[in-house]
Order: sequence, then C-alpha cells, then structure tokens
Amino acid sequence: MNQALHSISSDAVQRIRSQSLRGKNLIPGVTDKISLAIGEPDFGTPQAVIDAQVQALGAGYTHYSPQEGRCELVDAILASAVAVSGRAFSSENILVTHGGSAGLTATILGLINPGDVVLLEDPTYSLYLDGINMAGASVRRFSRGEDGAFDFDGIDRDAKGAKLIILCHPSNPTGAVISRGEWASFADIVTRNGLLLLCDEAYEGLTYGDSPFVSALDIDGLSDHLIVSRTFSKKYAMTGWRLGYLVGEPRLIAAASTVHRTFNGAINSANQIAGATALRQAGEEAEKMRRSFHRRRDLMESCLSKIPSIRFRRPEGAFYFWLHYPASLGNSSDLAATAAQAGVMVRRGEEFGASGKHALRLSYATDEASIVQGVERLGRVLT
Ligand SMILES: Cc1ncc(COP(=O)(O)O)c(C=O)c1O
Repeated sequence: MNQALHSISSDAVQRIRSQSLRGKNLIPGVTDKISLAIGEPDFGTPQAVIDAQVQALGAGYTHYSPQEGRCELVDAILASAVAVSGRAFSSENILVTHGGSAGLTATILGLINPGDVVLLEDPTYSLYLDGINMAGASVRRFSRGEDGAFDFDGIDRDAKGAKLIILCHPSNPTGAVISRGEWASFADIVTRNGLLLLCDEAYEGLTYGDSPFVSALDIDGLSDHLIVSRTFSKKYAMTGWRLGYLVGEPRLIAAASTVHRTFNGAINSANQIAGATALRQAGEEAEKMRRSFHRRRDLMESCLSKIPSIRFRRPEGAFYFWLHYPASLGNSSDLAATAAQAGVMVRRGEEFGASGKHALRLSYATDEASIVQGVERLGRVLT
C-alpha cells in the first residue's frame, strides 16, 4: 500500500491488522466442498421466535428502543440470570448488545486502556485479540496442559499487574468447559489480584458432559469483578439476528454501555421482542438442538478415532473438535489448504493462537453425512 493511503487508517486499525489472527467468515453454501469449518448451527431459528418478530413488526415495533434494551427482553434476561445464579439482579446489571461480538468488544474497549495487560487463553476465539489491539493493550497468554489442566500458579504469576482476564466457556475452539473446582481457583486469582473477568458464554446451553454447566454468574466472590457475555446466535440458532447481552457488575456494564451506544446504538426493537420469546418459550427447541449436537459429537469422535496420527480431548461443550497432528505435516494454514483441495474445509489452528500451529478445528454443527464424509476426506490428508 502506498504511504499516503497507508496513513489514512488509524493506529488502532494498524494494530489490529498487524496482529489479527482472524480468518474469513465462511458463509455456508458458497462451496461444493464439505464444510466442517462453520461456527454456526445448521438449524433454523425456532418458529415461535420468528412469529414473535413478524407480529412485533406488524404491531408497529419499528422504532428506536432504549439504549440498554427493551423491558420485555431485559426482564426475561433477569429471570434467566437469577435462575442461573440464585442472586438478585436489576436492570443496571444488563445490557442488550448487537450479538455477542459487540458485547465483547464494548466490554474490552470500555474497560481497557493503552498499555494495560490482558490475560488470554491460547488457543481461544480470535475476536478478543482484535479488541485488545484496538484498545492498545497487550496480552499474556496461558494454556491448559496436555492433560487439560490449567497451571493456576503460572496464571497467578501472570496476573500480577494485569487488568483483565478473558475466558471462553465453553471454549471455542477446544470445546473444554470450566469445572466448579477450576472456577474456585480462577475466583481466588481474580479477587486476590484485583482483576476484572470477562467470561464469554456464547455456547452456554450447549454442553454434553455428565455434570451441569457452571456459569461464571454462579461463582461466589466473583460478582464485583465480573461481566458475562451471551448471545442468542448459537443456543437458539439465531446467528443472523445479531442479538446478545451482557450481565455484570453495574459499573462494568455502564462502561461497556457507553462504548456500545457509540458504535451500535439501540438494538432492533422487533428482534428484542423475539429474543424475549426465545428465552421464555424456545427452551424445548433449544434442547432438541443440543441433543442433536450431542449425537453429532459422538459420531465425529468415533470417526476421528480411526485416524491414528491425531490427538484430541473429547469436547464437553460448543460444537468443535480441536485436533493436534504431527508437526511433520506442516503448519495449520498449509494443512487446511491441502484439506480444502481434498474436498473438506476446516479451520486452521493458528487462527486461535500460537498453540494452534499444528492443530485444526472441526465443527460438527452440520449434518451426519457431512461429518462422516468430511472426516474420511480429512483422514486421507492426515495419513
Ligand atoms: C466464542 C464466541 N464468542 C462470540 C461469538 C460471536 O457471537 P455473535 O454471532 O453473537 O456475534 C462467537 C461466534 O462464533 C464465538 O465463537
């Protein structure tokens, strides 16, 4: 790019571009290859939610909403937050957001200054890094060990002088969840070091383990430090609706809200009314989708177990497998390109951090035939 054009973009944009790990948004249906790359449910949005939106538009809900969210939706979010945590919340704890993405970015920009340090897992969802770079902060990365355990002493050391820790739970890309015991250690580190905690629960409601999902909202001692981001995208198959919300400590919510109203303004009124319907009436539909994902996870696991060269841990949530393969097969960008030539699209591990150099992310948010054939094609590339 020539110098004059180069200088048009802000330092923030330059920082994001120079360090971003993000890949292209792969839209389903644009390729004849099998896609195990897409991070969105292949199900349609529950009919009751669609009907609620159409009805709302017909009834004239076509105007601006309050910045923090319409009362129907805020009340439904409050009811679900109380059910999760057993604690009392008020509307000051809630911000309705333009999908999970805007909630996450508004939180980071609302809390983080240039020069601040943010603790980030490796691997993790790539959006956080871009938000941190937009804010001009730096990251310290931490990872689970081979056995899946966190090194809490190491995280505690890294927490000195840091301002924020971001956790993705259940994890994109690994599908790992945080147990109640692990939460106790995180809560201890967060409170002793005076950290803030942003917990991205985009895949809340999509877990397959024997024990129930433990939300950060349900952890004693965290509430003064905590902001939780959720979205309707995954659990209710509403990726295109762009609806999410934050639940957290009122001063943290107020900071995120100031950024959010600057970038996004209030969210589409009819979509918010539909979102309230999702929370109040679409639980059964969401549960049906969860059971399908559970079956697909088991199917993909049995297909993958026939590929001797890879290592993976069984994911307990979200809809992804995180595969480690031998370094002799090359880096993950090249291997993902080779897999695409062999007819199957997967995500390169490097998109999620340096630890993904020899890893791939596979999505099972697709039909069973695609899972079987896609893994078969991948197997040929991996042997
Ligand atoms: C972990 C995680 N958080 C947030 C998002 C963004 O969600 P939304 O589509 O609601 O912006 C995604 C989307 O893939 C995600 O995987």
